[in-house]
Amino acid sequence: MQKIADLRYALAVLQWDQETYMPPKSNEARARQVATLSELSHQMFTDDGLKNLLYELNKINDLQEDEKKNISLSLYDYEQQTKIPGEFVRKLSEVTSRSFQSWVDARKTGNFKIFEPLLAEMVALKKQEADYLGYEGHIYNALLNQYERGATVQMLDRVFHSIQQPLKNLLDKISTKPPVDDSTLLKHFPREQQWKFSMDLLKKMGFDFNAGRQDISEHPFTTSFSSTDVRITTRIDENDFGNMTWSCIHELGHGLYEQGLPSSEYGLPLGEYASLSIHESQSRLWENNVGRSLACWQFLFPVLQQSFPEQLGKTSIESFYKAINKVQPSLIRTEADELTYHFHVIIRYELEKKLMEGAIQVNDIPAYWNEQYKKYLDIDVPGDKQGCLQDVHWSHGSFGYFPTYSLGSLYAAQFFKEASNQLPELNVDIQKGQFQTLLSWLREHIHQYGRKYTSEELCVKLTGEPLNIEYFMKYASEKYSQIYGL
Ligand code: CO
Repeated sequence: MQKIADLRYALAVLQWDQETYMPPKSNEARARQVATLSELSHQMFTDDGLKNLLYELNKINDLQEDEKKNISLSLYDYEQQTKIPGEFVRKLSEVTSRSFQSWVDARKTGNFKIFEPLLAEMVALKKQEADYLGYEGHIYNALLNQYERGATVQMLDRVFHSIQQPLKNLLDKISTKPPVDDSTLLKHFPREQQWKFSMDLLKKMGFDFNAGRQDISEHPFTTSFSSTDVRITTRIDENDFGNMTWSCIHELGHGLYEQGLPSSEYGLPLGEYASLSIHESQSRLWENNVGRSLACWQFLFPVLQQSFPEQLGKTSIESFYKAINKVQPSLIRTEADELTYHFHVIIRYELEKKLMEGAIQVNDIPAYWNEQYKKYLDIDVPGDKQGCLQDVHWSHGSFGYFPTYSLGSLYAAQFFKEASNQLPELNVDIQKGQFQTLLSWLREHIHQYGRKYTSEELCVKLTGEPLNIEYFMKYASEKYSQIYGL
């Protein structure tokens, strides 16, 4: 298992390099190298020797709990991988490369028609994949389960249904108030100084630079080659301070989680993250519950003002705090505030569900998309580029991924509330810049377990109940009532 991990992490190094430093002429050679390494690791993982060993081990009763977990999870992964024929895997990866290219081309001109044939091919393949994987109930369940084990249409319908109305009510109230002025964030913030500030921010919040780095890439992401080498990336927009700052804190949350996974379990399931929604709970917790809180900026704002005296010297912390929490329905998911964000996810979830069950076809997507943006957020989509072509996910074949983003925010609110209950000094410590209090708590209650528990098991173990949207709604309504004077 550790040798397979060696290959996979070597592959991750190549992919990280591709997004950060690789010269453009290397595209073809790199694609070969990546393909060879993934083929090798796939071969090793589906090898009969490993399979027989796992089945043998699975029969032994007197193993320790963690050992048993490692074996049963490895067997689960093995069985998932072997459900899909090798021929299909090759076909899917070939269509994915072409589909990604056609999405890039379509986005350039904002013309969905360019992407449509490949996307139709992709959707057909995904339906076939669902059949290979098998499912109970809705066909979409097979795909959802790939990203969030145990997630179903039934469960997500319930979650999304229950947050919709309370969120809508809160947004309606906010819309009656004067809009927040965020012009202070949109001044000119030179690249170099933003970079320096971000590195300082990461250090203060506990990112271990002896076990990781930050670099620049077009789309921010986190990857790791072990818990002792975690790479995060950011991007800088000189005319929008918020762009870099909160994506940096978001990736920091992912990075801290990766650095906190047990290195003694290298290559084994217990050394991996619990699930995508738990991963996202860590990024959203740092980005929003900490990074957009007043307490956090009571500590950071004076530091920030020193870095940007011209831009922020005359700004009060109150107006800065309001600016960084401005709520406004918008077109782009990744730039949305933490309230309207969920509607972006709900729209994608409903669309994918309908696509999988055949209620809509690929050529219906633009019209359906625009209709839903009008319905949920009351905005007109000017073109497909800012509409249904904005996300990379479908071109990668990632159907079923989006819901994990919302689940992550909802878990974050529940975990943060639990942390505040258990650590009465938490808010004061954050005001003093002592982020270690929170980080140690997360390490102890979440990070150290790796993949030992499912999302729901972890949530119950930590908070005494499964995911409950009331925590997010209470957090949101208290925070925004105060900001908007509701
Ligand atoms: Co994330």
